[in-house]
Amino acid sequence: MSLSLSYQLRPEVEVQQAGKSLWLFCPLAGNLMGWNSRRPQPLLEALRSQWLEQVEMAALFASAPDAASEALFQLFFMRLVAARLLDLRLREDGRDIFTVSPAPHESLLAPEATAGSSWRLNRFAYLRAQDGGLLLESPLTPHRLLLHHPNLTPLVHSLASAAEVPAAGQGASALLALMLRLGMAEADTQDQDDGPMAFWEFHDLLFHTRSLGGRHVYPVGASYRFQGQRPSLPLIKQASGGEVVSLPRPSGAIAARMETPLSRVLESRRSLREFDPRPMTLQELGAFLYASARVQKTMRDHRHEEDLSLRPHAGGGARHPLEIYPLVRACQGLEAGAYRYDPLRHALERVQGEPALLEELLAQNPHILEGPQPPQVSLCIAARIGRTAWKYQSIAYKVINQDLGCLYQTFYMTATALGLAPCAIGSLDASLTGQALGVDWREEPFVGLFTLGCPPGQSTDAKGGAK
Ligand SMILES: Cc1cc2nc3c(=O)[nH]c(=O)nc-3n(C[C@H](O)[C@H](O)[C@H](O)COP(=O)(O)O)c2cc1C
Repeated sequence: MSLSLSYQLRPEVEVQQAGKSLWLFCPLAGNLMGWNSRRPQPLLEALRSQWLEQVEMAALFASAPDAASEALFQLFFMRLVAARLLDLRLREDGRDIFTVSPAPHESLLAPEATAGSSWRLNRFAYLRAQDGGLLLESPLTPHRLLLHHPNLTPLVHSLASAAEVPAAGQGASALLALMLRLGMAEADTQDQDDGPMAFWEFHDLLFHTRSLGGRHVYPVGASYRFQGQRPSLPLIKQASGGEVVSLPRPSGAIAARMETPLSRVLESRRSLREFDPRPMTLQELGAFLYASARVQKTMRDHRHEEDLSLRPHAGGGARHPLEIYPLVRACQGLEAGAYRYDPLRHALERVQGEPALLEELLAQNPHILEGPQPPQVSLCIAARIGRTAWKYQSIAYKVINQDLGCLYQTFYMTATALGLAPCAIGSLDASLTGQALGVDWREEPFVGLFTLGCPPGQSTDAKGGAK
């Protein structure tokens, strides 16, 4: 049986000439390497489309190899591997066994480390289908293993249950050695929840590593990968045709409350979970939404042919994917029920939804332990994921959650200034909320909930709300 290792440039790698030098880099992933001559150009061109063994690569690097050019090739090759610009394919007896991207140092494939022990998969490793193979990944390593050969399946299966690992040839031994060294597999005796890793749940660690740069080789950031393929989602969600209620802008006594000094608002802001029985007023709700969430300005991004907006709260890329759905229990001048806030028109649009589920949603009081009086309004917040994902790759969901944090804080500050009772809510039944409001979770998942009410012990002012 014979193993062979061959290499190819990762598909994302770009090669640029600068004077007599070459630059190799992966846009959006950050890998970069420079070389102070153009000598490797024929090799790089071949590596773009062919899998090459090291001897073939050395021959392309120098047409008449000698000791000096061999040493130079080794340096060039090591730097390509260190900059994570190559993929590696392992073949056994002419058949593809697995591919590793990016290519690791070859020493990681040496099988000695696997002799005479029992092994298991690390709890962060996972398999998924890709390109006709099984892709094995882990947030503990940037290296991805694409398993081609069905002989590897018994190995992976036995690692799942820490059973004895079957001897399935040199290719499988190399795979096991690599998995051990990359942290995808480990000795069966090792404590699973070692040290600080005990705090990490599988999905949290995966989300953390994949939504920031540095610990993987996927593109990260503003790639605009859908441009030219499908249009960006509009700035404002299309109206559903429900009854529209115009909201008042802050005026009179309510506008005066918005003049409260910032230092006083910051010092007095608290999460409040008890509520007065009096209804909120439309003036209060209108002022709250106007001051915290309306569109202040729209802008045209001509380069990407789309509209952006500025609002009182910050939003990644000015994309503002968050939709606010007020669930109104008690508001003077507004029928109880579900609405969607239109931040451009500063209006509420009635949401028909699913009546029985809406009733169930309205009956839910996250603060029931603090008292029987529910908040006058719950603000359910959904994200039009495509609005952010149209621009951002890998980080879209993270940016949306950061947007949510900005919105929450702006809600808190505005409610405090207005003398209302605000509270962020960390968990919500996203499925029930989506079904009740008739919102497709695949397009617009619910990501946040915020309660807003009238603090207890206030007298009512017919026009402006509590004094
Ligand atoms: C992201 C987030 C989630 C929260 N979730 C809840 C919650 O589910 N229930 C609740 O009563 N308070 C919740 N809170 C409010 C916190 O408990 C509160 O901010 C914290 O106790 C500090 O009190 P303060 O806001 O009055 O300064 C949440 C706050 C934030 C920022």
